[in-house]
Amino acid sequence: MLNGKRILLIIGGGVAAYKALELARRLMERGATVKGILTSGGQEFITPLSVASLTNNECYTDLFSLKDEAEMGHIRLSREADLIVIAPATADLMAKMAGGIANDLASTVLLATDKPVMVAPAMNAQMWDHPATKRNIETLKSDGIHFVAPGSGMLACGEIGAGRLAEVPDMVEAIEEFFHGNIQPLTGKHAVVTAGPTHEPIDPVRYIANRSSGKQGFAVAGALAALGAKVTLVAGPVTEETPPGVNRVDVETALQMKAAVDDALPADVAVCVAAVADWRVENDVGQKLKKTKDGLPDFQLTENPDILAGLCSRTDNRPTLVIGFAAETENIVEYATVKRTRKGCDLIVANDVSATTGIMGGADNEVHIISEFGDEAWPKLSKTEVASRLALKIADILESK
Ligand SMILES: Cc1cc2nc3c(=O)[nH]c(=O)nc-3n(C[C@H](O)[C@H](O)[C@H](O)COP(=O)(O)O)c2cc1C
Repeated sequence: MLNGKRILLIIGGGVAAYKALELARRLMERGATVKGILTSGGQEFITPLSVASLTNNECYTDLFSLKDEAEMGHIRLSREADLIVIAPATADLMAKMAGGIANDLASTVLLATDKPVMVAPAMNAQMWDHPATKRNIETLKSDGIHFVAPGSGMLACGEIGAGRLAEVPDMVEAIEEFFHGNIQPLTGKHAVVTAGPTHEPIDPVRYIANRSSGKQGFAVAGALAALGAKVTLVAGPVTEETPPGVNRVDVETALQMKAAVDDALPADVAVCVAAVADWRVENDVGQKLKKTKDGLPDFQLTENPDILAGLCSRTDNRPTLVIGFAAETENIVEYATVKRTRKGCDLIVANDVSATTGIMGGADNEVHIISEFGDEAWPKLSKTEVASRLALKIADILESK
C-alpha cells in the first residue's frame, strides 16, 4: 500500500501518455496522493483537465504561470513530493535531465528537486537504441535516478522492438518496492495454482475443451512468486509464458491435473483457477471415430473428479487455505456463495464469464471475493492487478492463521 505517499507524476509527450492516467488511479487506489505535471508535448496527447479530474488535484503545465510562480511553484512542487515519477519519459525529457537543462516546468522541477526520481521511458525502438539515449540513461543512472525498464513488442509507431512503456502494474510494483523494499511475505510458503482449460480426448485427434486462456491463473502464480512463495503451477494446454520463479507442470486432462495437484502437496495455499472439464469421454478413445451411415458416434460421458472439492475435504495435507474460482454467467454472487459452502473452500473468486463481459480470454477481470464474511466486490481491474491483490490477501490471511 502507498498510504500517505505523495507522488508527483510528470507526463511527457508520447502516445503512452494515456497510460499515466491509469497509473495515477492505481496509485491513488493504494492510498497515494498524486499531483500531475503535463509537459507541452504531453498536452498534445492528453488534457490537463483529465489529469486534474483523475488525480483530484490541479494539473501543472506552465513554469511562468503567475499563480504558481508567485510562490515559486516549481520549487514547492519539487519538494512536496516523496517521489517524482516520469511516465512516459520521452527521449527529449531524459536528454534535458541528463544535460541539466531547465527550460520548462517539468525539467525545472527535475533540476530543482532534492527528492528521488523514477523514470519510465517510452519511445520508438530506434530512439531507444540511439547512442545519445543510451548515454543519457547511463548518466541518469549514475545520478541515482531509478528506472522502470520499457518492454518490447508492437510500438505505437507500428514498429516492433524495445521502447514500450512498462505495463501499469509493473510501474505500480516498482513504486511500491521503492517505498517498502522488496517485501516477500510469502517466503517459505508453498502455493499450488491450477490454470487454463483441460482437454478431454474424444479420440486421438478430437477433444472437448473450453475457452479458458490461463491468463488469470498464470497471473496468480506470478503474483504469489513475486511475494516470495514457492509456486507449483499446474497448467492445462495454454500458450501463456511461465511467470518468473514459477515451477510449471503441464497437463492435458482433468485426471492428469488432479494427479499433478496431489503430487504437489503439501502446500500452504491452493488456488484453483483452472476451468476443469466437468466431464470426460468414458469410451476407449484409442482409435479415430469414423463417420458412418448409421448415425452419430456413440460416446458416453462420465464425470471428472472435482479437484477443488477434493482438496477441501482432504483429511491429510489439506492446504491451510483453499481458494476456488467460479465462472458464472448469471446470479454471480448467489451461485458462488452456494458453491463456496458446497465445496468447503475458504474463498471463492467469482467472475461473470458471459460472452458480453469479454473476461474469458480477455485482459481484464471484475471479481467478487466470497468468504465466510460475505461478498467483497472489486472494481474492474487487469488480470495482473486482480492477481496482485489476491496474492496480498492470501499473505494477510496466512499471516493471521
Ligand atoms: C505522434 C507522436 C508520438 C510521439 N511519441 C513519442 C514517444 O513515445 N517517446 C518520445 O520520446 N517521443 C515521442 N514523440 C516526440 C516527442 O513528443 C517530442 O520529442 C516532444 O518534444 C517531447 O516533449 P516532452 O519531452 O517535453 O514531453 C512523439 C511525437 C509525436 C508527434
